[in-house]
Formats: sequence, structure tokens, C-alpha cells
Amino acid sequence: MRVQVIRLVCALLLATLVSSEATERKAKIVDTSFEYNALNCRAHSASLTDFGGVGDGNTSNTKAFQSAISYLSQYASKGGAQLYVPAGKWLTGSFSMTSHFTLYLNKDAVLLASQDMNEWPVIKPLPSYGRGRDAPAGRYTSFIFGTNLTDVIVTGDNGTIDGQGAFWWQQFYNKRLNYTRPYLIELMFSDKIQISNLTFLNSPSWNVHPVYSSNIIIKGLTIIAPVPSPNTDGINPDSCTNTRIEDCYIVSGDDCVAVKSGWDEFGIKFGWPTKQLVIRRLTCISPQSAAIALGSEMSGGIQDVRAEDITAIHTESGVRIKTSIGRGGYVKDIYVRRMTMHTMKWAFWMTGNYGSYANNSHYDPKALPEIKGINYRDVVADNVTMAATLEGISNSPFTGICIANVTISMADKANEKPWTCTDIEGITSGVTPKPCNSLLDKGPEKIKTCDFPPEILPIDLLELKKCTYNIKHA
Ligand SMILES: *[C@@H]1O[C@H](CO)[C@@H](O)[C@H](O)[C@H]1NC(C)=O
Ligand SMILES: *[C@@H]1O[C@H](CO)[C@@H](O)[C@H](O)[C@H]1NC(C)=O
Ligand SMILES: *[C@@H]1O[C@H](CO)[C@@H](O)[C@H](O)[C@H]1NC(C)=O
Ligand SMILES: *[C@@H]1O[C@H](CO)[C@@H](O)[C@H](O)[C@H]1NC(C)=O
Ligand SMILES: *[C@@H]1O[C@H](CO)[C@@H](O)[C@H](O)[C@H]1NC(C)=O
Ligand SMILES: *[C@@H]1O[C@H](CO)[C@@H](O)[C@H](O)[C@H]1NC(C)=O
Ligand SMILES: *[C@@H]1O[C@H](CO)[C@@H](O)[C@H](O)[C@H]1NC(C)=O
Ligand SMILES: *[C@@H]1O[C@H](CO)[C@@H](O)[C@H](O)[C@H]1NC(C)=O
Repeated sequence: MRVQVIRLVCALLLATLVSSEATERKAKIVDTSFEYNALNCRAHSASLTDFGGVGDGNTSNTKAFQSAISYLSQYASKGGAQLYVPAGKWLTGSFSMTSHFTLYLNKDAVLLASQDMNEWPVIKPLPSYGRGRDAPAGRYTSFIFGTNLTDVIVTGDNGTIDGQGAFWWQQFYNKRLNYTRPYLIELMFSDKIQISNLTFLNSPSWNVHPVYSSNIIIKGLTIIAPVPSPNTDGINPDSCTNTRIEDCYIVSGDDCVAVKSGWDEFGIKFGWPTKQLVIRRLTCISPQSAAIALGSEMSGGIQDVRAEDITAIHTESGVRIKTSIGRGGYVKDIYVRRMTMHTMKWAFWMTGNYGSYANNSHYDPKALPEIKGINYRDVVADNVTMAATLEGISNSPFTGICIANVTISMADKANEKPWTCTDIEGITSGVTPKPCNSLLDKGPEKIKTCDFPPEILPIDLLELKKCTYNIKHA
């Protein structure tokens, strides 16, 4: 009796083993559940593997991405669609997004940017720049690209987008590029954008570039590039309205956040400003650049930027203004509060002769930028070489500068003269070391003059929805 029972159990075990092996050989279907917060949840989901994707790090998935997104675009008006990228290494060239669409990366999914130039179509320069930054002709389409879209989400459980930039940096240094390098993400002329919970590595050039777009949330990004890498800016809101950048950690070879709006005559003519921008809880390490740069391309204007709870470590400068005669445009109503800086070359830096023209032999000397209403308060900095270098433009001084409640501890080898000011006007309150004479201390009650406006920006009213999915995929 006992022997029979044992035999039966053995037979059952064997049967289960055989049948599970059989199904495994057939398809290896996995059931994955996940949830995250998004501008919109999607009614339809599919996996990249449904479209022939192979995550071996060697097979090109460009066609798989293109056919998946093209297929899923049919759901734009039927509840929208999500493309799931499972764990694996997915080599691909540039691909384009569609409207009412989410690209979601599993935590162990890595998108690897192809090094085959044929996988990077060339497009026209940006109208507000007139030419490419690396080469005058066209520019390589960004890795993840989109134009004229609405409701686009790129997110993931901290999945990775690896630009494999060394390939591009070499060609840049060797002056072999015929076109401007691609960015990791560029969305143009689009409304309602979310880019969140991802890691970006080694971008060929800028990492995240929303341009001519509005209603944008960028949240929870880790962006890493080697410090010597060329132009690997973190996030560049460019001619965008109503944007919120929060909870990002950036280590890069250029500015962590660079706010822009077009270049010289092209930007002036296009005339599309960046306005209503919040940057909060940013941690930046950028030994050769700024935590937040305003410019240098600001010819369409930059207005109403609010930066708070910013940490800069081993960074060249804090919130920096870069402009030149010939740029035109304006930078006004800029508010910064609660900033902590460790080991900085400059705590405050404004430059009115940055140069770097779209055409170095031809710019309009009458196109004077207007820099006005720049407010900093509650700033603590240590190990600083120069407290401030504030250089305006003689026939267009930088005005309405307000600096309050700031304590800067100078480095042992600090410059003997911590403040340098030319062609600027403004006030200070409770600032050490003692500011230059053009920024006289007006007493403690003036701290409030540097404060944020009371009304919040509309992007802070936008709430994310909780989305839950269960998808079966190979
Ligand atoms: C990103 O991840 C964090 C931590 O895992 C989570 O709390 C947050 O909800 C996620 N954000 C979004 C926008 O999904
Ligand atoms: C990688 O892909 C190339 C071209 O697609 C192919 O020739 C090569 O055999 C692949 N290598 C491996 C290790 O799979
Ligand atoms: C995208 O929108 C812009 C601005 O509205 C327009 O000039 C351009 O022609 C559009 N492009 C496409 C491809 O529809
Ligand atoms: C995401 O991954 C990066 C790189 O591995 C890591 O440094 C970072 O802490 C991760 N972020 C979260 C929220 O887990
Ligand atoms: C640039 O163009 C030249 C001349 O057509 C060509 O030889 C070279 O391979 C191109 N470089 C790249 C990186 O495509
Ligand atoms: C201060 O900054 C210098 C570089 O300017 C650096 O070498 C040194 O380690 C820093 N000291 C501290 C205490 O962080
Ligand atoms: C720069 O300006 C000069 C003088 O107007 C002009 O001759 C030249 O073609 C311009 N260069 C470019 C690249 O546009
Ligand atoms: C001054 O700044 C410090 C550091 O951010 C902050 O703790 C303090 O409350 C501020 N003081 C005033 C009067 O706002």
C-alpha cells in the first residue's frame, strides 16, 4: 500500500515536471504586474517581444520598436497604449513616439543606443537655432524622438537608457561629425509629457530635451555621464511652458539643468520663450559647469523660473546666467530659495559676454538681452573659491538683483576679493562675506523682497494617476 502511494506520488511529480518543461520550451510566457503614477493610464498594453524584439544586446531592435509603436498608435483614440520593455539589453537606433502612448521599462531593461550611423536619420536644425551646434547642416534624430504629439510618457521602474556616448564623443573630438549629435530624448511641439523613474547613462550629447512643448513633468531621473564628456547636459527645457522638474540626481560633463530658448537671430525671430518652470529637489555634481544655467541660448526669453531645495556638490557654479550682446531676449523673474552648495568655484555667477554665437562673424550688436529680477534667498555654501562674479552689459545692465540670507564660507585658497560686480544693480540683506558696493545691504527687513511669488504655477496642480497593469509576455 505504502509502496503504491510512493509510486503514485513519483508519477505525479514526474508528470508535473514534464508538463512544465514542455510549456517552458513552447513559449516561456511570463505574467508581470506593476503599478506606477502617470498623467494617464492606458487601456491597451503590449510587449516589445510581441513584435520580434530580442534583448541579447546585439540584435538591432529598431524595426521592432518602429512596428510596435506604429501598431499601437491605432489605440490613440481608444484609451491609449503602453509598450512594455522586459528585462534584457535592447540594442536599437532612433525611434519615434506617438500620442496617448507610454513607453515603460522594466527595472532590468536597458535600451542600448546603436552605433550604426544608418540607424540615426538626419533631420533639419531646430528653427530657433538656425543651425546645428556641432555642425551647421542637419542633426541626427534623437534616440527617443517625438514631434507634434500629445500625452506622451516615458517611464519605468528605474530602467536604463544607455547612449553608449563614447562612440560619439570620439567623433566630436576628432571633428568627424557631419551633423549634430543626437540627444537621448527629444520631444518637439508636444503637449502633456512625462519622463520619470529612469536612469540615463552616457548620452552622446544633451540627455533630456523638451522643446516647443508645454505641460511637462520630469521626475525621478538619475542622469550620469563622465565629467570630461562633451555637452552632456542633464535636462534642457527649451522654449517650453509650464514645466516641473523634480527629484533628479545628475552627474555630468555640462550643466545639470540648462534652461534655453533659441540662439541669436534665429531665436529672436522664432520668439518662443521658456516660462513657468519649477525645479525642485535637484542634486547636481558638475565640476565644469552649473547646477542650473539660464542660457546661454536665451534669445526667445526666459521668464518665471523657480528653483528650490537644490544641492550642488563639487560644481563650478550654482544658478548661473549666461548671455551676450547679440542674443536679444530676456531673463526675468527668476527665484531661487533653499540652495546648499559644497565645494564650488562660484556661488553666484552672471556673464554678459559669453559669446558662443550662432555665427561668430555676424551678430546684431543692437540685440541687447534684458536681465532683470533675479532673486536668491536662503543659500548656504562652503569651500567656495569666489563668492560672486556678476558681470552685466554696459549699455544693458543686469537690474533688480536681490540676494538675501546667504552664508558663504570661503575655501582656504579663496580669491582675496570674494565679490566682483560690473554693470549690475540690486540689493542684498544678510549676506556674508560682505557683497560689492553695487549690492548694498538694505537691512534684515528686506529679506522678503527676494521671496517667491505667492501664487503657485499651474503645473503644480497637475496630479498623477495611479495605474496598474498585468501583462503576459515572452
Ligand atoms: C518613482 O519611483 C518612486 C520610488 O520607487 C515611487 O515612489 C514613485 O511613485 C515613482 N514615480 C512615478 C512617477 O511613477
Ligand atoms: C551580433 O550581430 C551581428 C549582426 O547582426 C552578427 O553578425 C553577430 O554574429 C552577432 N554576434 C553575436 C555574438 O550574436
Ligand atoms: C508641428 O507643429 C508645428 C507648430 O505648430 C508646425 O509648424 C509643424 O508643421 C508641425 N509639424 C508636423 C510634422 O506636423
Ligand atoms: C536607479 O538606478 C541608479 C543606477 O543604478 C541608482 O544610482 C539610483 O539610486 C536608482 N534610483 C532608485 C530610485 O532606485
Ligand atoms: C562625413 O562625410 C564624409 C564625406 O562625405 C564621409 O567620408 C564621412 O564618413 C562622414 N562622417 C560620418 C561620421 O558619417
Ligand atoms: C575644498 O575644495 C577643494 C577644491 O577646490 C578640494 O580639493 C577640497 O577637498 C575641498 N575641501 C573640502 C573640505 O571639501
Ligand atoms: C556668417 O555671417 C557672414 C556675414 O554675414 C556670412 O557671410 C556667412 O555666410 C555666415 N555664416 C554662416 C555659417 O551662416
Ligand atoms: C536663512 O536660511 C537658512 C538656511 O536655508 C534657513 O534655515 C533660515 O530659516 C533662513 N532665515 C530666514 C530668516 O528666513
